[in-house]
Amino acid sequence: MPMIPMRQMLDEAGKKQYGVGAYNVNNMEQLQGIMKAARETNSPVIIQASRGALRYTNFVYLKHLMLAAVEDNPGLKIALHLDHGDKLDTVKKAIDLGFTSVMIDGSLEEDGKTPRSFEDNARVTKEVVDYAHQFGVTVEGELGTLGGIEEHVAASQVLLTDPQEAKRFIEYTGVDALAVAIGTSHGAYKFKATPKLALEIVEEIHRLCPETALVMHGSSSVPQELVDQINKYGGKMPGAKGVPIESIQAAIKLGIRKINVDTDSRMAMTGAIRQVFAESPEKFDPRDYLGPAREAIAKLLKTKMVDFGTAGHNDDYEPKTLEDMKKVYGK
Ligand code: G3H
Ligand code: 13P
Ligand code: ZN
Repeated sequence: MPMIPMRQMLDEAGKKQYGVGAYNVNNMEQLQGIMKAARETNSPVIIQASRGALRYTNFVYLKHLMLAAVEDNPGLKIALHLDHGDKLDTVKKAIDLGFTSVMIDGSLEEDGKTPRSFEDNARVTKEVVDYAHQFGVTVEGELGTLGGIEEHVAASQVLLTDPQEAKRFIEYTGVDALAVAIGTSHGAYKFKATPKLALEIVEEIHRLCPETALVMHGSSSVPQELVDQINKYGGKMPGAKGVPIESIQAAIKLGIRKINVDTDSRMAMTGAIRQVFAESPEKFDPRDYLGPAREAIAKLLKTKMVDFGTAGHNDDYEPKTLEDMKKVYGK
């Protein structure tokens, strides 16, 4: 089984109303942990790399790690996705590396903080769609700004995705998938009080644009047992809080198809390494702590693949190629 376009994976998830996890990678053990979870649950899987991951691995190491994951798992459907691409040049580099999907995050200015105007976001996103679709590559855009709902109210800014704007954005740009802002944020400290998500926004955008896969960034659940493990073995993560799995499942029912997870894998890895260091201070072979870290990621992600409903769906359909997708896009 080859790498497949993310568009196909999300379309198929839409037909059966499940979600597909998109898991960030920076090194071999993370990737192997993800692949083990996908194998053991027979799940299609999205592997994604941020710009930071590409820099950290000097691009070429990550490229070959991803190719190794594909070669090592010939029976699995895998989409390779650029997470939070910032401009066309980055997208071009990712496509050259062999990614089958790219995100253009036009929601923020170059400082990574200031919300970008709708017009500028739509313009840069369309530019990327026009380029990527020539290669059959899937494009994810983003409209709205991530962050807790309470924070937005405090700042008197409405930055959650507006459904009517989303419809205009999708129609103008032709994106395959859209990341929506509904109150989630990146990292381990997503909520100060009870988690609150604007799921009605997902429902309305899905009603207006049923063909477009909706994406939820900042979807780590920050499991309490991982917080406890990290804190017990010398870490410091007081007040860490994530998105409850029940909220993710509710979002999937309403139209979320891609669920971005990075923080939880980082925490699983860190917890396992801290435990080995604390319990076996005599150990110094990296395999003695990176091996358990890899296992911890696999164990955690297996539960996610089951909870998101991805498990068991790997063999449901015949894989499409990027050439097939070019025809779909009329290129
Ligand atoms: O978008 C956020 C992901 O967790 C990637 O994070 O930019 O630190 O690699 P990163
Ligand atoms: P988390 O920080 O919740 O894992 O979100 C990751 C993400 O959205 C990557 O794009
Ligand atoms: Zn993100």
